[in-house]
Amino acid sequence: MTLGEVRAAYIAFFKERGHTVLPSAPIIPEGDATTLFTSSGMQPLVPYLMGKEHPEGVRLVNAQTCFRAGDVEEVGDNRHTTFFEMLGNWSLGDYFKHEQLPWVYEFLTKELGLPKDQLHFSCFAGHDTLGIGKDTEAADIWRSLGVSDDHIHFYDAKKNWWSRAGTPEEMPAGEIGGTDSEIFFDFGTPHDPAFGPTCHPNCDCGRFIEIGNSVFIQYIKNADGSFGELPKKNVDFGGGLERMVAATRGDVDMFRIDVFDAPRALLEARSGVAYGADANTTRVFRIILDHIRSATFMIAAGVVPGNREQGYVLRRLIRRAIREADTLGIKDAVLADAAASFTEVYGDAYPFVHAAAGKIAEELTKEEQKFRKTLVQGLKELEKMGDAIDAFTLLTTYGFPIELTEEIARERGIMLSMDAVRAQIEAHKAGSRAGAEQKFAGGLADHSEQTVAYHTAHHLLLKALQLVLGSEVHQRGSNITAERLRIDFSYGAKVTPEQLAEVERIVNEKIDEGLPVVRTVLPRAEAEQLGAEHEFGATYPDTVSVYSVGELGSAFSLEFCGGPHVENTRVLGEGGKRFKILKEEASSAGVRRIKAVLQ
Ligand code: ALA
Repeated sequence: MTLGEVRAAYIAFFKERGHTVLPSAPIIPEGDATTLFTSSGMQPLVPYLMGKEHPEGVRLVNAQTCFRAGDVEEVGDNRHTTFFEMLGNWSLGDYFKHEQLPWVYEFLTKELGLPKDQLHFSCFAGHDTLGIGKDTEAADIWRSLGVSDDHIHFYDAKKNWWSRAGTPEEMPAGEIGGTDSEIFFDFGTPHDPAFGPTCHPNCDCGRFIEIGNSVFIQYIKNADGSFGELPKKNVDFGGGLERMVAATRGDVDMFRIDVFDAPRALLEARSGVAYGADANTTRVFRIILDHIRSATFMIAAGVVPGNREQGYVLRRLIRRAIREADTLGIKDAVLADAAASFTEVYGDAYPFVHAAAGKIAEELTKEEQKFRKTLVQGLKELEKMGDAIDAFTLLTTYGFPIELTEEIARERGIMLSMDAVRAQIEAHKAGSRAGAEQKFAGGLADHSEQTVAYHTAHHLLLKALQLVLGSEVHQRGSNITAERLRIDFSYGAKVTPEQLAEVERIVNEKIDEGLPVVRTVLPRAEAEQLGAEHEFGATYPDTVSVYSVGELGSAFSLEFCGGPHVENTRVLGEGGKRFKILKEEASSAGVRRIKAVLQ
């Protein structure tokens, strides 16, 4: 079957069973500064899985475009891709295991016609510390459908527990999750003993591929590390669309499904190399195909290549694709042409991708030209270095790939210690990762004095906006660095210069008043009663930390927040600094964005 056929069949199947079809949420999450990309179908639904009423009802279905930046290095084998579509159906406290598992089985075996003997199922083996037992209920359901015992497998929480953060131990307080039951397709390829003595569904040799996962989201992690029950028991199913298509074809290679046909043929024509000719070129083809497809969707979502956040990820994908294309001997611009075939093939399901075809071609061509200039510049620098070639500097300063440095150095008879260079790069990457993790931890780029001061100013700003614009103003996203603060907030109109001036005046007044900033830990219900502000879509444990500007009982502002903050608002005005709004603009429908500084 084609990708479009499987997608349509899935949506129709669940629609017939009372599900409302939701559009795919944007691949760049809206109003969520804590994550760069949408990476699973449930991500936009977290508030509803937590118990909030969904306007479209309790049965939902969609195909969600996803991007997983963590998988960039994995691409090259027959199954990993950074972009993919996740088919999802959800029960928000409505049906549970007894409906979900038979439905998904019926869909796979009847609608897709997958051979029953090639399907395997895993269930949760139990967890002593959590006090959650073996999921015999799910296993019994699989059995009642005719699945034999040797196709039902039990695994512990490392494999059969799902949350966005991973295992129960890895989950932060406030995160939701639960046990799951995964479905694997056995492609029947020979087992590779490099992955262990015997093959089984969770073996990584590539014979078994996970094609779907029913997560029973019913738990929330409390602040003390224990688990509580959510108000409702939910089902969160995620199916790998591309993987299902591969299963219908009985061919384990994800890069042979229909959406890759045209760009693959293009690469073959330009390189004169047939896909599959040897292991290395096959790997190269896959990286190019994957990265261009991801880049196509990212640019369609409004991302442009840059040095920060999504723009940086996009740049990295494009540059990797160019380098790999070079190794196939394709020296002319190929990215834009390959992207054009993706905009065609995805045009029906995602018209916005088709509509952005011109922009996609333009950005890819621009970036390809820029990168080729970088390569020329890097070569010049390398020449200047003589025998003392510094591969690390060439990479970090000029973006010059280390493989190229190695090759050129070799031509001159110089053997570089690439292990040492790679170790340097790893250390460098670890440093950036640590920075990124901190940012994701609280919307703060770091915990420097300046960033912390901006964080407190952010609280003052939100309250001032509410006072000037009305209580319907709530935070929809934030991003705080040592240079400036940024807030996204709900408000339906442009904020006038007079209103902005009034907001500035209030914030500066509170800075001048020298109000204490106080952290209090209290039960969530109490914090809610006090009217503490919380971020839309965020989830909170039973016991929460709130920050008040001013003493708790008579606070100017009160927010659910983990900090850190300055001790007194006076700090923000030190050295004669004033709070100043630099820019007010639209962020998305009904959401405005303000950038402000203390200077
Ligand atoms: N949310 C689940 C997953 O991503 C279905 O695997």
